[in-house]
Amino acid sequence: MKKIIVAIDGFSSCGKSTMAKKLAQETGYIYVDTGAMYRAVSLFCIRNNWMTDTNIDQESIKKNIESIHLEFKQNNIGKTEIFLNGENVENEIRTLEVANGASRISTLGFVRRELVRQQQLMGIEKGIVMDGRDIGTVVFPEAELKIFLTASPEIRAKRRYDELKVQGTNIKFEDVFENVKERDERDQNRVESPLRKADDAIIIDNSSLSPEDQQTLLMNLFVQKTA
Ligand code: DC
Repeated sequence: MKKIIVAIDGFSSCGKSTMAKKLAQETGYIYVDTGAMYRAVSLFCIRNNWMTDTNIDQESIKKNIESIHLEFKQNNIGKTEIFLNGENVENEIRTLEVANGASRISTLGFVRRELVRQQQLMGIEKGIVMDGRDIGTVVFPEAELKIFLTASPEIRAKRRYDELKVQGTNIKFEDVFENVKERDERDQNRVESPLRKADDAIIIDNSSLSPEDQQTLLMNLFVQKTA
């Protein structure tokens, strides 16, 4: 069976990573969550006070971008976790504050160029499932299988809200809904690599699709592309 690159793009909180992770597990492919990379850079900037609610200190970020070392490692139950300069930050990057920062930091061209460079290196031998916003358009325009995943903003906010509740976060649904809409707006309208469907991507709207049906659909596409 030939090895391919699977690129999964789409809006925030539409289940890209769940879908990508499962496919990687079933096929023995490497899974890369590029959102986690932008989130880790966001965390690094917040910690260094280079990003506040009102300001981004681009000069400091630019000067230090090469000292941000990102790595993915599997934990003892096979879950991939992200390390920022040797520190496991997988849980810390999942807050709304870091997500908002990631959405802002990801508009900076020099940040994108550095992360795209690292992502392209990860895919050099193929056999990779990568999810994000620009994977099928910028990182791997030659990917053999491209998926554009989508669902309505209300449904995505509800899924995110339920997840945060389970994690014990005290938050209002309206705030999560606003956050989803704000990030959609920013992701689609930024100048650098805005979120858009690649011409040859297959759209999957999972608003009313069960996780099982979605996975079967994806697996069938994978089998077709690797035959
Ligand atoms: O998928 P996520 O919610 O973890 O992504 C966090 C932010 O990073 C999101 O606002 C969009 C941005 N992002 C991006 O611009 N390009 C990517 N390839 C992945 C994420």
